[in-house]
Amino acid sequence: MGMKSEILRQKFIEYFESRSHAYIKSYSLVPQDDPSVLFTTAGMHPLVPYLMGEKHPLGKRLVDIQKCIRTDDIEEIGDIQHLTFFEMLGYWSLGDYFKKESIKYTFGFYTEVLGFSKDDISVTVFAGDKDAPADEESYNTWKNDIGIPEERIYKYDKKENWWGPVSDTGPCGPCTEMFIDTGIEACGPDCGPSCNCDKFVEIGNNVFMEYFKNKDGQFEKLEQKNVDVGLGFERLVMFSEGCKTVFETDLFAGIMNKIITLAKKEDVKSCRIIADHIRAATFALAEEVEPTNIDRGYVVRRLIRRAVRHGKQIGIEGVFTFKVAKKVVEKMGTVYPELKDNEQFIYSELKKEEEKFEKTLEKGFDHLIKELELISGIHGSKEILIGGGHIWTELGKLAFDMFQTYGFPLEMTKESIEENLPNGVKIDENLLEDSFNFAYKNHQELSRKGTEQKFKGGLGDTSDTAVKYHTSTHLLHEALRRVLGNHVYQRGSNITAERLRFDFAHPDKMTEEELREVENIVNEQIVSALQVFETITTVEEAKGDGAIGLFEAKYGEKVKVYSIGGELSDPSAFSKEICGGPHVKNTKELGTFKIKKEESSSSGVRRIKAVLE
Ligand code: ALA
Repeated sequence: MGMKSEILRQKFIEYFESRSHAYIKSYSLVPQDDPSVLFTTAGMHPLVPYLMGEKHPLGKRLVDIQKCIRTDDIEEIGDIQHLTFFEMLGYWSLGDYFKKESIKYTFGFYTEVLGFSKDDISVTVFAGDKDAPADEESYNTWKNDIGIPEERIYKYDKKENWWGPVSDTGPCGPCTEMFIDTGIEACGPDCGPSCNCDKFVEIGNNVFMEYFKNKDGQFEKLEQKNVDVGLGFERLVMFSEGCKTVFETDLFAGIMNKIITLAKKEDVKSCRIIADHIRAATFALAEEVEPTNIDRGYVVRRLIRRAVRHGKQIGIEGVFTFKVAKKVVEKMGTVYPELKDNEQFIYSELKKEEEKFEKTLEKGFDHLIKELELISGIHGSKEILIGGGHIWTELGKLAFDMFQTYGFPLEMTKESIEENLPNGVKIDENLLEDSFNFAYKNHQELSRKGTEQKFKGGLGDTSDTAVKYHTSTHLLHEALRRVLGNHVYQRGSNITAERLRFDFAHPDKMTEEELREVENIVNEQIVSALQVFETITTVEEAKGDGAIGLFEAKYGEKVKVYSIGGELSDPSAFSKEICGGPHVKNTKELGTFKIKKEESSSSGVRRIKAVLE
């Protein structure tokens, strides 16, 4: 019974080679010359120029097996079928044959080579909309030529039956997808191939790329009609080997066994997550994508850290991901020699990342628990349940902070929040993600502005810059008071286009830690996009509301108070200071705050130099 993965790969290539398709090697997982996506997500991705009409040197029919990484389904990992790294069996017609022939090819491969039964196969076709007509040809081919009964041919809209473009513009078109019914009970009356439960497993997608989505969002007809087919290799192995999940196939057997041996507790979902994530990270590392906090490096970091966290859940002790990676290299190294070539690099990167993560984990958990207590102290943990808008901003900020400072992937923060709330409270994943993204975008925007400013150098608008430094000085002043104590007060301030200089009363040299904390507090206020309020009032009132400043004004005299993050009367405002101004309207205008130097100014007075980047 069944066909080992190695043989299935071969049979696929042979089947299409014998139908005049030329074999091309898998491209890199890192897209070349295409900054619009982080990883290659489909076999067609590197072939876009040929789908657009460029002549391929090997002709109009191609076949390959492409390494892919997709993270859209990361939450689904742990079920029977989803994976972040997978191999896509792909074949193409570049302006050669079209719908009917390709449907016959795909179906032929399933039934003649893999031995699948027609009775287990359901299909979907495009129902048509304002952009493109219903795909009658595919419907009729399935029904009349192949003989799939009508009740197993589903018609869906663009959401399900349209593929591409990979980024905003590019080739795309209606598609027809194939599914195997696993025989699991339907999850409800509407259960069908588009459903996310495990009853239907998608095993392939024939895309008819005859459109081009332009930058105005319109669909133009391509001159060349193409077929782009992708079949999920691991799922085909699963059905071909008669397994119930992809993790039971020979592709995963060694990896899963290793994890189960290391684990102290039984938890199949965690084992699957570790297997999937470390396999994906191993392939990325083989192409020297190292874990970092941005772009594809961040994907790798997330994968490793999430795996480590699940390792903890099932009681795995010590650094372990490299042991799992060894099994990946063992199984896949012959097919993908880059794994063997970079073996030592892969293991050492995994070890490094895991050790780094260990260190931040503990600190991170402490921080998260403290912050969560604060948030639920202010709003009540019940409200987290109900999910008022305000709470999401705070949770989003917390999630971003956990990511930025402690390297906690979003999923991990979500899970940790749930663990620290009253029993059974579930965090709305989408809301948390939106709030996280909001905080993240804000941060990116600030860094971008900072960079632009840096490159402008001394040519920037000096007065604008001065205003920014001025507001930053208020933030710094308050942050120093929070970290060092209320004895801190301003002894002098000097601002140029390049930096701020702030002198303040404090007896001791500040420690590295205190400096970082002050810096973080200031940046937190910046990222939080706090509004700056201006109030004209009397000295007495200003004092009464907790404003700081030089109280030399005479009794009854009007002063201007700047409060950041709330009105003067708002006790939660971050800073309140008597000052002539001017100031920015919102702290988000400031950029990233960096302390460059801390030194003595005179006896009992310290001096900080800081910049906005
Ligand atoms: N490009 C198509 C897909 O990824 C085949 O599903």
